[in-house]
Amino acid sequence: RWAVLMVWLSNMFLCWGGPEMSTNVPIEAPGNRAQQLISEALQMLAEGRQFSGGIYTSSDMYELEKERVFKREWLAIGRVEHFEKPGDYKAFRIVDEPIVVCRDKDGNLNAYRNVCRHRGVEVAVGEGNVKNFTCPYHAWEYDLNGRLLWATYPEDIKGFDLANCRLPSVQLETWAGFVFINLDLEASSLRETHGEILQQCEFLNLQDMREVSTCIIEPACNWKLIGENVWDIYHLGVVHANTFAKDFNPRDFKFHTLPGGAFYGKYRSQSCGRPDGKTLFGTIPWLDVDEGFAFGAQIPPTFSIIARHDAVYSVITEPLGIDQCRFIVYTHLPKEWLDRPDFKKNADLYGDFIRVIFEEDNAMLGSIQVGINSEVFNPGPATHLETAVHHLTKGILERII
Ligand code: FES
Repeated sequence: RWAVLMVWLSNMFLCWGGPEMSTNVPIEAPGNRAQQLISEALQMLAEGRQFSGGIYTSSDMYELEKERVFKREWLAIGRVEHFEKPGDYKAFRIVDEPIVVCRDKDGNLNAYRNVCRHRGVEVAVGEGNVKNFTCPYHAWEYDLNGRLLWATYPEDIKGFDLANCRLPSVQLETWAGFVFINLDLEASSLRETHGEILQQCEFLNLQDMREVSTCIIEPACNWKLIGENVWDIYHLGVVHANTFAKDFNPRDFKFHTLPGGAFYGKYRSQSCGRPDGKTLFGTIPWLDVDEGFAFGAQIPPTFSIIARHDAVYSVITEPLGIDQCRFIVYTHLPKEWLDRPDFKKNADLYGDFIRVIFEEDNAMLGSIQVGINSEVFNPGPATHLETAVHHLTKGILERII
């Protein structure tokens, strides 16, 4: 009777939710859930369907991407012309990590973690030109090489090696006038990682061009949808039928894919400078091409290059959350055109028109995010016209796992 009573009592305890119950519940780590979403998404693609929505909507996925994409991959962050003089700097954040890029007195471009070695305050704010960085909280001062110059009340700081104190370094490389950084100090160089795709873009001589306009858009969508949208040739003749893609034939696209999600290819399209497709500048002097020339390349994860015969555009994407991001479209024109009469007026017209084009995408991007998050979303068929879209995201997912 005692044994029966004990079993009954222990069952009652379990039914009431005693502490023992939780020990039998399997705990699934966020990283495991994200890896499962990636496996499902890749399986969908292998079956000829679009990626499942979870890779764009799951916070577990975003946490894994922060660690394995944004803290490990080479990321374009802007142009070298933003840092012309010693002391020119720019502070920003990559996911949650504060970074500062600056040109030092010897003319070298450097990147550091923008984290004061005292209590962590960001020592540089915004952008501008400085002699040194002075932390705004207790005024510790760092030189342009990230070395601590002095601390206020040093006699009160005991047992701390002020002489060897510096802001933690970040890898930085430049290519064709663009600045790339990598938070992973162990990562292979930019050229080792992306050598082939960089080489395929070199004929554009982007180092001889200047950024003439900047268009910033913050759509309510996952960051991966930006690169996908840039290379989704299927939508061009629909969404952009009244701007640059009136006579666009998606079958002109021929992309060469490279490992890791990179690709490049030539195709045919009108200029993206003005609605009538007529150039205001002529053809870029070093390009031996006709007016229908178009070229595109993706340097994964977040950098796209779009070229026409008369201008080049670059797109840099930054995540701001699982369903929020920012992308910046730069318009580049040959620096030898800068002295032309009406250059500024015409360059502004180009900048205005590329904004119109990307604003057309903006509405679609927010809508995709809502739709793929719907409880009834069931991924539809992947089309041949979306080959580049799928290659890019597949490459990113494969690198994550
Ligand atoms: Fe920078 Fe104190 S936090 S000096």
